[in-house]
Amino acid sequence: MGVLLGGGVGAGVSGTHISRRHMRFLIGVAAVLVFGAVLTALNVYELHKLTREHWSKAHVGGDAVAEGRGASHYARPVVWIRGNKKNSGYLMHITNVFHRLGYDQANDGDDWDVLWSHNYPFRELKAMMTNLKPQQRVNHFPGSGFISNKVNLAISGLSFVPKAFRMPAEKEELLAHAKNNPEIMFVQKSNNHRGIKIEKLDALDLGTEGTFVQEFVHNPLLVDGHKFDIGVYTIVTSIEPLRVYIFEGDVLFRFCPEKYHPFDPDVRDKYVVGDDYLPVWKVPSLKSYYKDFGFGMKGSFDAWLRAQDKDTEVVWDAVRDAIRNVFYSKEAALIQATSHYPSPSNFFEMMRFDFVIDDQLRVHLMEANMSPNLSSSHFKENRLLYEQVMFNLLSLISQLSQAYVEHKQKGECRRVIPQPINPDHAHEPANMSGLTPENTFLTEWFRGKCLIDKTFCS
Ligand SMILES: *[C@@H]1O[C@H](CO)[C@@H](O)[C@H](O)[C@H]1NC(C)=O
Ligand SMILES: *[C@@H]1O[C@H](CO)[C@@H](O)[C@H](O)[C@H]1NC(C)=O
Repeated sequence: MGVLLGGGVGAGVSGTHISRRHMRFLIGVAAVLVFGAVLTALNVYELHKLTREHWSKAHVGGDAVAEGRGASHYARPVVWIRGNKKNSGYLMHITNVFHRLGYDQANDGDDWDVLWSHNYPFRELKAMMTNLKPQQRVNHFPGSGFISNKVNLAISGLSFVPKAFRMPAEKEELLAHAKNNPEIMFVQKSNNHRGIKIEKLDALDLGTEGTFVQEFVHNPLLVDGHKFDIGVYTIVTSIEPLRVYIFEGDVLFRFCPEKYHPFDPDVRDKYVVGDDYLPVWKVPSLKSYYKDFGFGMKGSFDAWLRAQDKDTEVVWDAVRDAIRNVFYSKEAALIQATSHYPSPSNFFEMMRFDFVIDDQLRVHLMEANMSPNLSSSHFKENRLLYEQVMFNLLSLISQLSQAYVEHKQKGECRRVIPQPINPDHAHEPANMSGLTPENTFLTEWFRGKCLIDKTFCS
């Protein structure tokens, strides 16, 4: 359809007798802009249509189709959006996107097709969660806390997670580790609080139950002297077999308001990212990429890093590897937790993985947020990112868990599990040591598709 439209516009331009070249150029530019706008509209329309088809199929046989919610011939899907202080704004973009895709909003107690719950729903709505209908989908997996719980992640022993010790149980190990590595600084954290402050070990209260002490990344990569973290939106559509995507349309970059050097542990704004972080468009070296070239946050950072003669893919490959390995390491626990529910296909999840990059371009995973805050009340510019994440997420789940359909609809998301295949090596089986039979099967399925159609390789 897009191609036909493009041809039509092109024919229109060459069919007229405008002789002046720049006039033709301008028309070309206008045509490209119109074409882009049409494509965007088509994408939204297609998504709308898919959602509609999906839900009218889901309701076939029921009298919901004939019910008159609006003038349409199909039953509109219903989303129940649930959270504390629901109207304070942090759920606005979620609400907007569901609305634009034609969802009605449920009130408490209504029947619904999608539950979007800010809080983990499996304890509060236990009876409901164990009696889900086949077409109902919930935005969390049972057991997602194995990944988003700060203590669980910190002590997972993964090489890209800064080493951590549980207090008070591992106090002796910590003291021995600190003695052997006197240059290391530490942060004490708990499940409810982000790293508060860097302290010398003797200033920490190592007796506090439920906390852990974690190594501090002392050599962060700096842009114009500022430390930053990156937030990668990650979507899980299935856990058995695993299917996990990261949104690569953009990545959230947040800079510390104060310069890192000269380092002073008493000035938190030098090393902690808070609500009042410094956005990309206020960082002098990135500003022009972002504002003048319209590069987005990730694009601006990549351009800056390339200008230092560094390879940006080193960073992004490490990010994808880290996310892939977190899921593999928690896979058995996730499957086990989900086995108490009627069907794993009722669940999906969108998380934000926060990383710090060091000056050797190594990535360090700091945390995974189960319900990342998508509020743009502080920075209006983030609205586009948040809504794109939501559109891409809903496009992934709008058909029930079919790897093929997901692949076709993955938009700006890139598959990290099953691991992408190098098309030049697709004829050899991939290294699948350590994968479950389900994941092996799906990896093989993608390899088979990749041999026929390169777009399936990644
Ligand atoms: C989300 O972020 C906004 C802006 O930074 C803040 O005002 C709000 O309190 C946050 N909401 C939640 C639930 O964390
Ligand atoms: C396959 O992967 C495993 C674990 O990821 C690794 O230990 C092993 O060396 C790999 N084998 C080959 C042939 O690359």
